[in-house]
Amino acid sequence: MHQFPRTRMRRTRQAPWARDLVRETTLHAADLIWPLFVVEGENVVEPVGAMPGVERISIDVATERAREAADHGIPLVALFPNIDRSLRTEECAEAWNPDNLVCRATRAIRAAVPDIGIMEDVALDPYSATGHDGIVRGGRIVNDESVEALVRQALAQAEAGADVIGPSDMMDGRIGAIRDALEGAGHTDVMLLSYAAKYASSFYGPFREAVGADATLKGDKKTYQMDAGNADEAMREVAMDLAEGADMVMVKPGLAYLDICSRIKREFAVPTYAYQVSGEYAMIEAAAERGWIDREKAILESLVAFRRAGCDGILTYYALEVAKGLRG
Ligand code: PBG
Repeated sequence: MHQFPRTRMRRTRQAPWARDLVRETTLHAADLIWPLFVVEGENVVEPVGAMPGVERISIDVATERAREAADHGIPLVALFPNIDRSLRTEECAEAWNPDNLVCRATRAIRAAVPDIGIMEDVALDPYSATGHDGIVRGGRIVNDESVEALVRQALAQAEAGADVIGPSDMMDGRIGAIRDALEGAGHTDVMLLSYAAKYASSFYGPFREAVGADATLKGDKKTYQMDAGNADEAMREVAMDLAEGADMVMVKPGLAYLDICSRIKREFAVPTYAYQVSGEYAMIEAAAERGWIDREKAILESLVAFRRAGCDGILTYYALEVAKGLRG
């Protein structure tokens, strides 16, 4: 049908204005979710070794950064705590302490920056002596008891004022259990952004350092996170999470799983997000540091790829930097 030379594909590529005109996919600050690593203390800004440019910050600094994010059009920040080793136990009870670090951070940001959404991660790994996302009994990650703990954690987060709760633990049945508990407690407006298709991935390494779970983690997460070879299984995960009450779904990691993002968007037509994880960040940073790629172009290209694959937004460590550039 389209035949050369009547059709010359290069016509619409000939100048920047023409390329701008025909571009199918664009990126906006409103598409970005910004993760923040929170620690105790005041005025603390400490670097994360494997993520140059990313820092662990105290609540006061996190509040300032949330203000800055809102001012640049970022709709949602995601909080991840790095708590003292002494609070990491087998029972993970610090996860549902109403005064734990993320709950205090949520209240502080809510009070100072009312116009930004706040998301908290539901999973036990930052609170666990074994670094797992669930409760461990006799060397096994026990599902149903973990779900009870995750429900307690989610309720504490909702009480603290979280707008969005992101279960990233991959236990079976947790979305339904959390949704029912939220409804029962009157938190009818709290959104669930389910990490529906989360893969057991080598790309989480730098994050585990950031939250201090690299030192605690025993073994791997393959009995609950998904196998990299599976795609149909991801569709079943998404279908179940939606049926159980998820409002939005997440794919994680991002770039190596764009086919999953694309299938979810086509098959379910629901708000779909991807997490550009720590290892993806580290790869771009390391190659750029060596002068092997153009850092800024690589960042933007990777983020546009998520949008092209069908994602409504991206959780990315680059959110603030990119949002600033997009405005400028
Ligand atoms: C823990 C959690 C992980 C990430 C987000 N939440 C790590 C894991 O599953 O081990 C990874 C994020 C990243 O690598 O940037 N539930």
